[in-house]
Amino acid sequence: MQDLWDALDAQAQSVKGRPLAALFADPARAPAFSVRAEGMLFDYSKTNIDADTRALLIRLTEAAGLAECREAMFTGARINETEGRAVLHTALRNPGGSVTVDGADVMPGVRETLARMRAFADEVRSGAYPGQGGAITDVVNIGIGGSDLGPAMAVLALAPYHDGPRVHFVSNVDGAHIADTLKGLNPETTLVIVASKTFTTIETMTNAATARAWMAERVQDPGDQFAALSSALDKTADFGIDPGRVFGFEDWVGGRYSMWGPIGLSLMIAIGPDRFDDFLAGGAAMDAHFRAAPAAENMPVLLALVGIWHAQVLGHATRAVLPYDQRLARLPAYLQQLEMESNGKGVTMDGTPPLRPTGPVVWGEPGTNGQHAFYQLIHQGTQVVPCEFMVAAQGHEPDLAHHHRLLLANALAQSKALMRGRSLDEAREIAADAGFTGAELERQARHRVFPGNRPSTTLIYPQLTPRILGQIIALYEHRVFVEGVILGINSYDQWGVELGKELAKSVEPLLSGDGVAADIDGSTAQLLGFVRSAQAG
Ligand code: F6P
Repeated sequence: MQDLWDALDAQAQSVKGRPLAALFADPARAPAFSVRAEGMLFDYSKTNIDADTRALLIRLTEAAGLAECREAMFTGARINETEGRAVLHTALRNPGGSVTVDGADVMPGVRETLARMRAFADEVRSGAYPGQGGAITDVVNIGIGGSDLGPAMAVLALAPYHDGPRVHFVSNVDGAHIADTLKGLNPETTLVIVASKTFTTIETMTNAATARAWMAERVQDPGDQFAALSSALDKTADFGIDPGRVFGFEDWVGGRYSMWGPIGLSLMIAIGPDRFDDFLAGGAAMDAHFRAAPAAENMPVLLALVGIWHAQVLGHATRAVLPYDQRLARLPAYLQQLEMESNGKGVTMDGTPPLRPTGPVVWGEPGTNGQHAFYQLIHQGTQVVPCEFMVAAQGHEPDLAHHHRLLLANALAQSKALMRGRSLDEAREIAADAGFTGAELERQARHRVFPGNRPSTTLIYPQLTPRILGQIIALYEHRVFVEGVILGINSYDQWGVELGKELAKSVEPLLSGDGVAADIDGSTAQLLGFVRSAQAG
């Protein structure tokens, strides 16, 4: 591997300073550095990747054994080595398929759970499963991280397809979240779904207990209006949820990869089981493409290689995800967990330090809002932020087609502006037109220069349907997988979230005055002191 990284470093040096716009002197540049799959187009031509660079990056996948690792994942090998688990979220979206883990066929269980979810979602939607006060009008999903972000992101993304009860999400342990969500809801017609793989997560269990107390004030048997999505069936029983409304999943479904199964129940209730099937079919279509397409035509592989080029070769520490799609407003947060919890690791699979920095910081906001907030830094700041634009060719509001035209124009204009920039001569002309002369013209012109050569990619799709959303999410999941394989890390554990959880347990008693303040540092003691005196009034 080291020789390939060295060759990529040399390649980066040799193309440094090459204007991106100059690459388009070749009329074949755009199609040659784009890939189409499942009706979507991923254009990475506005990056400094050329044919030699791409060939080197593809050799990196070969040296890392990507093809073997990919087959190992799809066929149920225990590739999550630090937890001894298979990684089979792909099985959830391919219920007609067949996969074994240690010789046991996992698909009958997947199909049975999916059928039970469908039946329950249909009952909730039709009113056949009523609350004490009649048909369910509101569903509250209580979960956090992977048990929240996926369905919360997708429910918003697919708003045009909602024809079920309203769906709300509570994740934060901050009581403000649940208080604001429950305010205005009728407990007699509300279904609470407690989503937690482990059923031990303190935020979720605290919120679930609060929701149960809220419901008990008006509903005789509050447990009847609760469902659970979890692998811990003993714990859901202890909480008092009827096993008929518990939807389990196996340890081979990681939290941040879990929206394809029971964790997606709130989405299924919102859009209906048939459209949920379309979402699964979109994910499965991307799986089939990922598994079969050669690297140079493989969308997830190329998306990953663009990421590797920018983060691990050029050293750009962050990347921005910029959906020009208001309904994808939660996608950056979803991708933050998917990418940063998966690839934010400090050791390789065998416990040695990685050869290159691991996952970059992922952040973003929908366009055009971001343009009026942080794009200033993206265009003129001193750090390069590779940008990942995404946009639909069509919206869902035919009466507002002129809005969509403007949205598209902005998305396309931004990637063009990042690439071409504005030269000092052009800036001088603008300053002269504004009436500046002499030294002041020169000074003013410098503030109006855009360095350009800022890389971006664009993913364009026909319309944000359930199927397309499934494709996009699976695309990003596989991107994370490919980057993880190249970096030699385990993308499927998350030990880095443990320490904070443990320390919160030891700090909490100090706040209630019950704990012994042993092993406490001066800063934490000061902060505790402030809280105590503020609370004392
Ligand atoms: O933040 C750590 C984590 O374990 C995530 O990986 C997971 O998605 C989240 O907590 C919630 O966990 P659970 O579904 O077990 O409540």
